[in-house]
Amino acid sequence: MVSAVEYIDIDVEEYQRLGLTPQKPVKLLGNHRSKVLHGRFLHLTDIHPDEFYKVGANIEDNSCHRGKPGKGSAGASKYGDAMLGCDSPMILMNQTLEWVKTHLRDKIDFVVWTGDNIRHDNDRKIPRTEMEIFDMNTRVANLFHDIFHGDALDPRHYDVPVVPSLGNNDVYPHNLFAPGPTLQTRELWNIWQNFISEEQLHIFQRGSYYFTEVVPNKLAVLSINTLYLFKSNPLVDNCDNRKDPGFKLFQWLGVTLDELRERNMKVWLSGHVPPIPKNYDITCYRKFVMWLHEYRDIIVGGVYGHMNIDHFIPVDAKKAYKSYQDSLIRQGFEIDGQFAHILDEALEDDDAEFDIDLEHQYLNMGFNVSEHDLNVAIAAKDAHAMGGVPSNKEAYMDSVRETFYVDVKGLKKSGQHSDRYAITNVAASVIPTFNPGFRVWEYNITGIEESLSLKAKPWTQFFAELDAMISLDDQNDDDDYDDLEDDFVEIEKRKNKKKKDKGPDISLPKPMPEGATLGPGYTPQTFSPLRFVQYYLDLKAVNEETKPFDYEVEYTSDGHPYKLESLLVDDYVSLARKLGKPIKKPKTKSSETASNEYDSDNLDELQNKKSLDELWKTYVKHAFVSSGYHD
Ligand SMILES: *[C@@H]1O[C@H](CO)[C@@H](O)[C@H](O)[C@H]1NC(C)=O
Ligand SMILES: *[C@@H]1O[C@H](CO)[C@@H](O)[C@H](O)[C@H]1NC(C)=O
Ligand SMILES: *[C@@H]1O[C@H](CO)[C@@H](O)[C@H](O)[C@H]1NC(C)=O
Repeated sequence: MVSAVEYIDIDVEEYQRLGLTPQKPVKLLGNHRSKVLHGRFLHLTDIHPDEFYKVGANIEDNSCHRGKPGKGSAGASKYGDAMLGCDSPMILMNQTLEWVKTHLRDKIDFVVWTGDNIRHDNDRKIPRTEMEIFDMNTRVANLFHDIFHGDALDPRHYDVPVVPSLGNNDVYPHNLFAPGPTLQTRELWNIWQNFISEEQLHIFQRGSYYFTEVVPNKLAVLSINTLYLFKSNPLVDNCDNRKDPGFKLFQWLGVTLDELRERNMKVWLSGHVPPIPKNYDITCYRKFVMWLHEYRDIIVGGVYGHMNIDHFIPVDAKKAYKSYQDSLIRQGFEIDGQFAHILDEALEDDDAEFDIDLEHQYLNMGFNVSEHDLNVAIAAKDAHAMGGVPSNKEAYMDSVRETFYVDVKGLKKSGQHSDRYAITNVAASVIPTFNPGFRVWEYNITGIEESLSLKAKPWTQFFAELDAMISLDDQNDDDDYDDLEDDFVEIEKRKNKKKKDKGPDISLPKPMPEGATLGPGYTPQTFSPLRFVQYYLDLKAVNEETKPFDYEVEYTSDGHPYKLESLLVDDYVSLARKLGKPIKKPKTKSSETASNEYDSDNLDELQNKKSLDELWKTYVKHAFVSSGYHD
């Protein structure tokens, strides 16, 4: 059962220069192919290469495609300009990937690559076409293949597995993605097929989601098609209607997570649009958070792109359940303690003043909470999809602070190891919305040779069963009457019937099994994330040739000022408390007493406040990839 391991020597100085832990890679000597593990992976996102980019072109029209530079401007720079709204010149993509190849390829186990591989649709003179989108995605996919595949005969056998996911700009028109199979899902399969195991063809054609075993029998990365959860996709209604693609996505997620749990495997989630209230329909968001919670024994974490702002958000399972329950009650259903495992009154908050419910988190993030038919209105408001010059991003960070960080509960109410929370990691991008950046995550591979892989049915059998389940489901859909009529009948029935249990909603997770223990995201164990290194390109200096084209360490999670000992949910939640503390108003009932936090003339307290203010400033600076951005 226990396979032997061998350690491989490394150039320690090179690792230190890159900010990486100089840890020797482990060679797992399996029965067939041996596998080298470094305990490290790369997350890279939002490259947005633009083949129409022209050096010296006019920047102010936000396309950098043509025209004379504005007064006092030298026009579009060779490698792109931070904060001026253009997409990436091809050379920025090429040299970024070249840098990754030279410096990181032989130090990582896999690559998570979360989409948007083409320019924005922001030039009326050259509107994007579906062909152009497919073509550029093919070119970028080929670049990744060339760098990470290696010399195996099997095109699907990568030295460094790559896990792509679909961006809202990788589809035509942007944001709009229909349930598959469609021309788009078929074409996407053609472009990505080497990255995905062959058996997942059917499920992929249906939803463009899949997973990859990045460490065989031990660790998987799920690629989630977040466009089915995204409120700016006009074809997505909600995730509570069983005909909606988001509902079906959760069915797939459940079957897949159950199988991975059965095999004693751990899993990272990845996707383009991050699961936070700003982005997802509320019915999709709260289900997503419920899934994160009930599979906290196997889900290590989640990495996403799309927003270009480097930050994290603690998502709260209790709020999600509460919101779902309230929604059922509003619709007149009886609840019968269905969610007692998380909503028990004993844990209920007494400092309700600080408690922002999910609906208000939605309001605070600037969107309507009504659960139906708002997608179109929101899509119209979502100027972000068009790219361009960043604006109001400090205000956005302030609302993150007020809505999420201030709201983080104390030790007791956060649950064991803060297990009420999960973390949404939103990554900096390669496109110079701010400066180009990406992240390397380091994780615990101690004990990997002993971590038990349970014998399970062959994957081929699993996927065959999954396909059978899906086609049965589709048949049932076809048997139904016309959608609208069906809904109408349903409403009439509800009106006339005393409402009982809603019946099982198969897109909801079952509670985590009794006896399951918290996974690598929550307690230190094999696959626990340990630290990250955030790289960035000082674009101005590189354009001015005062620095070579060289990504630098912008900051690390364990360095100043964060000094995180590891990257467990607990570590993030404590950091969130610190980030929120300076603006957390003292409770009214204690405001007369000395516990009123900063009004006291206690020097330590003031010092503390000063250093927390500094912490916030640095955090915001990093959110904008050290570009110096201000609203
Ligand atoms: C980028 O790389 C591709 C493939 O290696 C090459 O054909 C192309 O000329 C490069 N473009 C630039 C601008 O460097
Ligand atoms: C919120 O939704 C309601 C009901 O659909 C609508 O009447 C209202 O205009 C919306 N408000 C905003 C700010 O979009
Ligand atoms: C790393 O994994 C080993 C083996 O499971 C465990 O004993 C150790 O505590 C873990 N350390 C960290 C920091 O996660």
